[in-house]
Amino acid sequence: MKAFANALALAAVTSYTYAALRFGCGTVTIQRLDPVVEPGNTPSAHLHQVVGGNAFNASMNGDIGNQGTCTTCTFSEDFSNYWTAVLFFKHSNGSYKRVKIMENDALPAGINGGMTIYYTQQDFNSNGNKFIRTFPPGFRMTVGSPTQGADGLVKHKGLRFTCLDTKSTRFPEIDDFPKKPCKGGIMTEHHFPACWDGVNLDSPDHQSHMYDTQPTGFAAGAACPSTHPIRMPQLAYETLWDTAEFASMWPADGTNPFVFSYGDQEGHAYGTHADYMFGWKGDALQKAMNSSCMFQACENGKPLKSQTVAQMNACSAKSTVKENIDGWLSALPGKPMSQMMERRMQMLEN
Ligand SMILES: *[C@@H]1O[C@H](CO)[C@@H](O)[C@H](O)[C@H]1NC(C)=O
Ligand SMILES: *[C@@H]1O[C@H](CO)[C@@H](O)[C@H](O)[C@H]1NC(C)=O
Ligand SMILES: *[C@@H]1O[C@H](CO)[C@@H](O)[C@H](O)[C@H]1NC(C)=O
Repeated sequence: MKAFANALALAAVTSYTYAALRFGCGTVTIQRLDPVVEPGNTPSAHLHQVVGGNAFNASMNGDIGNQGTCTTCTFSEDFSNYWTAVLFFKHSNGSYKRVKIMENDALPAGINGGMTIYYTQQDFNSNGNKFIRTFPPGFRMTVGSPTQGADGLVKHKGLRFTCLDTKSTRFPEIDDFPKKPCKGGIMTEHHFPACWDGVNLDSPDHQSHMYDTQPTGFAAGAACPSTHPIRMPQLAYETLWDTAEFASMWPADGTNPFVFSYGDQEGHAYGTHADYMFGWKGDALQKAMNSSCMFQACENGKPLKSQTVAQMNACSAKSTVKENIDGWLSALPGKPMSQMMERRMQMLEN
């Protein structure tokens, strides 16, 4: 009887919700800025592709949900910024060309590049009977790092690649660039940690205020540890790189010809990383997390306000870094990896 009463008490203080957001955000800008890792630097070390609110800038502080005038995301109250490095093709003659980004399938047609963004709970079907608290204004984090090696991707099981046969291919997930041309392009996946220390909006390495308990991408996260007790939405990005135009230019010796904008010259993708700057208006995201809607069913005020593809595509952020990033380039925009490593080593020594 006592156990039964305890079970009832437990049921009364928790609630079972399973909201899962999956939505498209078009490209809002592609430029060398990084308000999380290099605030104020114009330009930053390497090129990023960015989606979300148009307040994106070299420095961003305060409540981003109240800044800017539009967003490239389906949900019109989401002024967050989401970004990753940019993929380049390196020709055997030494020239580089930026790989175009294409929209994912299962999204409304016509979105300008961008990414697919997910906010899930413990997994797609459940909050694990644990309240999911959304990010507070000013919150930011990164996952992965341009200087990490193969061991980084052992630690971060949510940083993966898929060689696409079609846009719907999802497996297998691999931990480096594909070893052959991929008919449907390359997908990069970035899953963020979801356990928060409950105190810090950021941390010196932009990661230690968060803790990851997800065994692999989209699998149910284990319980949060006492150091990071607050469960937040499980955030993930998918980016689809349109590699078709380079299929005929693959090197004859079969070596990988792709390189991320931070310039890992080893031909590996270990430095894959992503950044997040929370910027939902008011309590919109909490309202969604408290509900049980899934994907497109969360649109049209049920409970989230949404906008059309034309409205998404009409939004862009001003370019403050003037440099050519398209066509064949003799070098990657920004500093080569060796200089970046030197700078990082100096920072660590000081
Ligand atoms: C971006 O920052 C620059 C320099 O601080 C400022 O002049 C500009 O107005 C900002 N742009 C936006 C969109 O906030
Ligand atoms: C490398 O090849 C591309 C594609 O054919 C060409 O457009 C580019 O000019 C070449 N670069 C050099 C340095 O020859
Ligand atoms: C979400 O649910 C929590 C717990 O039930 C409640 O305190 C909060 O007011 C709700 N927030 C919104 C925006 O619905």
